[in-house]
Amino acid sequence: MKAQNSHSILVLPGDGIGAEVMPHAIRVMEAAAGNRISLRLEYADFGGCSIDRHGVPMTTETLTRAQCVDAVLVGAVGGPKWDDLPVEKKPEKGLLGLRAGLDCFANLRPALTFAPLAEASTLKTELVAGLDILIVRELTGGVYFGNPRGVEVRDNLRYGFNTFGYDESEIQRVTKVAFELARKRRGKVCSVDKANVLEVTQLWRDVVKEVHSDYADVELSHMYVDNAAMQLVREPKQFDVIVTGNMFGDILSDVAAMLTGSLGMLPSASLNASSRGLYEPVHGTAPDIAGKNLANPLATILSVAMLYRYSLDAPDIADSIEAAVDRVLEHGYRTGDIMPLNPSENIVRVGTDQMTDVVIAELEAS
Ligand code: NAD
Ligand code: IPM
Ligand code: MN
Repeated sequence: MKAQNSHSILVLPGDGIGAEVMPHAIRVMEAAAGNRISLRLEYADFGGCSIDRHGVPMTTETLTRAQCVDAVLVGAVGGPKWDDLPVEKKPEKGLLGLRAGLDCFANLRPALTFAPLAEASTLKTELVAGLDILIVRELTGGVYFGNPRGVEVRDNLRYGFNTFGYDESEIQRVTKVAFELARKRRGKVCSVDKANVLEVTQLWRDVVKEVHSDYADVELSHMYVDNAAMQLVREPKQFDVIVTGNMFGDILSDVAAMLTGSLGMLPSASLNASSRGLYEPVHGTAPDIAGKNLANPLATILSVAMLYRYSLDAPDIADSIEAAVDRVLEHGYRTGDIMPLNPSENIVRVGTDQMTDVVIAELEAS
């Protein structure tokens, strides 16, 4: 029998800054566990480095291991070295296979502006100060997974095509997650679609309305995705929970990241029906800064916090990691991506390693 408070975690560092940041995030994870939680960490190749060593972005053995552990922590995958491979063979395909293989259909992407970073956003401080939005992105369906798909020659012209489809059960289950989460927050859900053009999202809107009948206490609104992108930068604080499909959620979460100061600040949790989660920062492998100790580790560190909250049932540890991040920002520590344009005297520019060191120091001091 499993000892209480002993948890197995599969760590998939991946490529670029994913692999670079991961050892630091693990240091935070272990410091936060202290003597209270015993972590059994397993590692596997994933993404581009798995293609190089095993010929595929995710081996079946890695997926099987992912299905057996309590949680999976991913860095990021991909990079220029593998960009010319066909879509089916790219590192990113491993990530999609992992998400689908774990049935992690609900991707929670919180965009929270830490008070000291309100000035780091490219938007006006007053628009983003105190921002707390949660994007719930459907993660295992939609145009990412639809068939048929491909590129073929039709009438002597190359023709590329994908299929954008959802069945009602896929819409129902992610919508329920969004309503449940909204109940614990400010009680508002905005469903984002393109129901004025796409039949699939007309169904999306209809099903969201049907599910809402069980959540009448939650305020529901609908918005077209083009308007939602605009509203996110015009008046982001109008939103509480946004629920949307796979591709719209991918795009809107990068927009939301800039409200918080940087893509390097946005964590995520992807949950399945049994809360066996997959945790990953929203950012990619950042080839432009990889290997230079420049990457912001906070998105992955905050993903570790989400892992404690959702998969290890340790919300207090999650809180303590988030509080430690808040304090290091309060003390003025900044990686390059969150440096203000005109830094005041108390701002200290740090690298990936030092940012992690100060988070751990704060954790241990608390
Ligand atoms: P990216 O997120 O890697 O980078 C976009 C920009 O944000 C870059 O300028 C980068 O330097 C900056 N940035 C991102 N994370 C940062 C961090 N932690 N600290 C400081 N700056 C950071 O997106 P991209 O350049 O479009 O993609 C690069 C590769 O990553 C591609 O192969 C893409 O497919 C892959 N990717 C993977 C994931 C994932 O594994 N979850 C997510 C997105 C992109
Ligand atoms: C993300 C990424 C992935 C996605 C890619 C790398 C497959 O952009 O997690 O946001 O599109 O889902
Ligand atoms: Mn993305």
